[in-house]
Amino acid sequence: MLWSLIFLGLVQSSLAAPPIKRWDAMAEKHSWTEVPQGWEYHSPAPQGMSFQLRIGLKQDRVDDLIRDLYEVSDPAHHRYGNHLSKEDVDALVAPHPESVETLNSWLQHHGIDPEQAVYRSGGGDWITHRVTVAQAEKMLGTKYNVYHRPETGSYIVRTLKYSLPRDLHDHVDVVSPTTYFGKTEAMRVNSFMQPEVPTMQYDLNQFNADADAGEIPASCARQVTPYCLRLLYKTIDYVPGATDRNKLGVTGYLKEYTSNNDLQEFFKRFRPEALGTKLNITLVHDGLNDDERPGTEANLDVQYAMAIAHPTPTVFYSTGGSPPFIADDATMTNTNEPYLDWLEHILNETSIPQTLTTSYGDDEQTVPVEYQKRVCSMFAQLGARGSSVIFSSGDYGVGPGLCYTNDGLKTQKFIPHFPASCPFVTTVSKSTGGIPEKTAGLSGGGFSFTFPRPSYQDAQVKAYLSLIGDAYSGLYNESGRGFPDVAGQARGYQIVHKGTVRSIGGTSAAAPVVAGIVSLLNDYQLTKGQPPLGFLNPWLYSEAASAFNDIVKGSNPGCRTLGFSAHHGWDPVTGLGTPDFEKLKALLDKRITAQ
Ligand SMILES: *[C@@H]1O[C@H](CO)[C@@H](O)[C@H](O)[C@H]1NC(C)=O
Ligand SMILES: *[C@@H]1O[C@H](CO)[C@@H](O)[C@H](O)[C@H]1NC(C)=O
Ligand SMILES: *[C@@H]1O[C@H](CO)[C@@H](O)[C@H](O)[C@H]1NC(C)=O
Repeated sequence: MLWSLIFLGLVQSSLAAPPIKRWDAMAEKHSWTEVPQGWEYHSPAPQGMSFQLRIGLKQDRVDDLIRDLYEVSDPAHHRYGNHLSKEDVDALVAPHPESVETLNSWLQHHGIDPEQAVYRSGGGDWITHRVTVAQAEKMLGTKYNVYHRPETGSYIVRTLKYSLPRDLHDHVDVVSPTTYFGKTEAMRVNSFMQPEVPTMQYDLNQFNADADAGEIPASCARQVTPYCLRLLYKTIDYVPGATDRNKLGVTGYLKEYTSNNDLQEFFKRFRPEALGTKLNITLVHDGLNDDERPGTEANLDVQYAMAIAHPTPTVFYSTGGSPPFIADDATMTNTNEPYLDWLEHILNETSIPQTLTTSYGDDEQTVPVEYQKRVCSMFAQLGARGSSVIFSSGDYGVGPGLCYTNDGLKTQKFIPHFPASCPFVTTVSKSTGGIPEKTAGLSGGGFSFTFPRPSYQDAQVKAYLSLIGDAYSGLYNESGRGFPDVAGQARGYQIVHKGTVRSIGGTSAAAPVVAGIVSLLNDYQLTKGQPPLGFLNPWLYSEAASAFNDIVKGSNPGCRTLGFSAHHGWDPVTGLGTPDFEKLKALLDKRITAQ
């Protein structure tokens, strides 16, 4: 009795020396009920194999970060355009000192010297340390296995569940690699080769003559070239003036390389003024680029982003993929988590391209919720620092295949796409045809089950929901973030791949084009001494909503349904519509003049 009173007193007065933690009292952090779809168990992970273990400490002032993001991105707020510096953002995502202390003592318990051995991100919210499988298994109370994806022949090392000491749960959001499997190579299926669309055989002079006559050439409805897009979205007369400051970033993952030979051949045929323009290739986390082995996704993204934004300098970030897997090779490290690798790199740069585009994604339900939230908060950091972050919305309509949930219950639900569903990115779906444009088949769209509806889209999304009444009730989340935000052409794109012209399509095609247009708007802002547009959505859903070509016909089938229907105003098929550069630029002008 007396002893426990003394002990209690000790605990209460122990601010300097925290109470002893029970590191053996573990509690589950995340688990799956079954091996994620498409993957198969292969073998136990080699005990001596090592990988980078990343620990995401809780960000102490993340609410302030989100508040700041909204204030600097809301045209009606007096802080609009006052973006944060790297130091500002790092301070907001820093963990509480108690979290750092608690983690450090746990690391010490496992023989890791937190001062010597550990790499910390700028904000200190991610700490990374190389461990062996045996060590990670002990720390996380788990077993790692090798899993195989027959469809792509890829292998990864993951686990179906992991735990942390109870005393760490309030301090740690997520540990990786653990339960996020991802589709790895299949992430690139956002774009489809379209052999059925004949590739373009035309006389450029004749085509230009048609265009000069004031018409969008009829061939543009089937075969899309930069010229078609520049006419359709009205960027054709704009001459960029801030190319010494403005930059456009295109991400590439998982051995999707881009070829300069193809790029130059593409320019020669479809954007002659750009011939000779070089792409800046920045390698991230053992990323490579092999000119001889280009991927269609990377070639598409780079060719169209550059053709639209020319001569804006463009950076291609090639983030490391999975090296070939040898099951008994203890040195293999194919555990990359591409978003984290790239985000860690870019958030560490002091100057970030004002516009960034990514054409990769996963089914939301296959990404652990805590992992989604952390990655989404990293996109918020990019927005707060003044970058417009663009993502494609996916190519399976409201969801691929039968659309069963993976929570063990196998109920039918629509399957949103991530990061398209993150409220801090601008998501692009697809359209096709001449004016007026139509929806293009299986446009990814719907409502997040993870992220609540942000207030910037309240009015438009509520209007849509009241229009459709109880259609699909129970299959989607009415209070979730609705996406896409906007759309762009996505069929019959003419690219040069391995020296020949090919036709390709998908939301992958639309995202770099919309990014190119946003990059031109950022250019315009900079030439007028204004800040870049940064996180776009609060502007898009307010004053800019009228500057989009509304798409009112079609739907996005999936999950054995017809999907959602397009309507006047925002809808989860084509968002607000496709961009009209001249109208958007006029809105910027109006604001500048009003200052
Ligand atoms: C390429 O882009 C990166 C990232 O913006 C930058 O740090 C680097 O200096 C650029 N390289 C060249 C040669 O322009
Ligand atoms: C972040 O930047 C610092 C300073 O440039 C550098 O020392 C560090 O290695 C970088 N970290 C990563 C992960 O790029
Ligand atoms: C719907 O979204 C809200 C807000 O994100 C979330 O709290 C809720 O759990 C979601 N409902 C379902 C059924 O997932």
